[in-house]
Amino acid sequence: MKKCTFQASSDIALVKYWGKKDAENRLPENGSISMVLDGLNSVTTVEFVQNLEADMISIDGSEISQDSREAKRVIAHLDRIRALAGSTLRAKVVSQNNFPRGTGLSSSSSGFAALTLAALGALEIDLPAKEVSILARQASGSACRVVNGGFVEWHEGDSSETSFSETISGAEDWDLRDIIAVVDSGQKTTSSTSGHELAQTSPFFSIRQKNINQKLTQCRKFIQDKDFSALGALAEAEALEFHSIILTSTPPLIFWKPGTVAVMHEVQQLREEGIECYFTLNTGFNVHILTTPENEEIVTERIGKLELVKSTINARSGGSPVELTEHLF
Ligand code: PMV
Repeated sequence: MKKCTFQASSDIALVKYWGKKDAENRLPENGSISMVLDGLNSVTTVEFVQNLEADMISIDGSEISQDSREAKRVIAHLDRIRALAGSTLRAKVVSQNNFPRGTGLSSSSSGFAALTLAALGALEIDLPAKEVSILARQASGSACRVVNGGFVEWHEGDSSETSFSETISGAEDWDLRDIIAVVDSGQKTTSSTSGHELAQTSPFFSIRQKNINQKLTQCRKFIQDKDFSALGALAEAEALEFHSIILTSTPPLIFWKPGTVAVMHEVQQLREEGIECYFTLNTGFNVHILTTPENEEIVTERIGKLELVKSTINARSGGSPVELTEHLF
C-alpha cells in the first residue's frame, strides 16, 4: 500500500475554543480564530499494511501502548478514515514533533491534522477541504483549524456538517511573530479534552458566551485591517478571560507556574518601554508572545534572559499542511 507523509503546523488561538456543546461530535460551544504557527510542526507518516494485527503507533521516538488514551484516540481516528475507504487494514503510524508535546503548545492540533491528511493520502481518498476540516475536528477540535493556513476561523456550526474552518487571511498577507517562552519542560497534568468538560461549571462562562460573537467579529476585522495593536490587546484580554474561567471551574485548573507570571510581567514592561508585544496562552504554562518582525529580536532577547525561562521557540504566521516525499520509516 502507499506510504504517505504530511507536515502540519500547530496554532495559537486568538479567540479560544472552550467547551463543547456536543462532545461526541466535538461541536464547540463557540467559534474560534487562530494563527497557524510555522515553526511548531508535526510530521506524520502512515502506511496501511497487509496482515498487520493491530495499529502500531510511535510518537517522538517511542512506541505508544495500545491501552493509552493517546493510542485510543489515534486508533478511533484511523477507524473513521478506514470506514471512508471500506478498509479493515491496520496501519503503521510514525509521528515526530519539533516542539515539546503535552505542554500547552497544541501538539494535538498539528498531530491530528498531519495524521488525518497522511491517512487519507495513504488510502488514496481525495476529500474537499471542508470535509477534511470536518474529519480532523472529530479527532481534535483545534486540528480542524490547522488543516488550513494563515489566520483561520472555525465556524461553530450546529451540526457536524456545519462545524469546520476557513482561512480569513493567508500567512503571506500578514507576517506576525510568536515567541514561545518555555518555562517548564514537564507535561501538564490535565488535558484540554478533560478541561472542556468543566467549562460550564465556571460562573463566568455564561458571561463569556454572551459576548463571544462580538469578540469574534472584532478579531476578524482586526486581522483584515492588519491592526496589530488592537489584535494583540484582544488576544491578551482573551487569554486572561479564558484563564479566569478555568481558574473558577469545579475543580479549578491552575496551569500557571512562576515562570508564566514572570513572562506576563515582562511583556507588560516591554510595552511600557514602547516595544509592542502581547501574551496569550492555552491550557498550559508556556507563554506565547505575539509581536511584529521588527521587534522579534529584542523581545526574544529580553524574554530569554528571564531566570525562569528555560528556552524560547520562534514561530511566525504559517501556511497549510504540506505533503513530504521523505517518509519517517
Ligand atoms: O483542541 P483541544 O481539545 O486541544 O482544545 C484546545 C483548547 C485551547 O487551546 C485552550 C483553545 C484553542 O482554541 O486552541
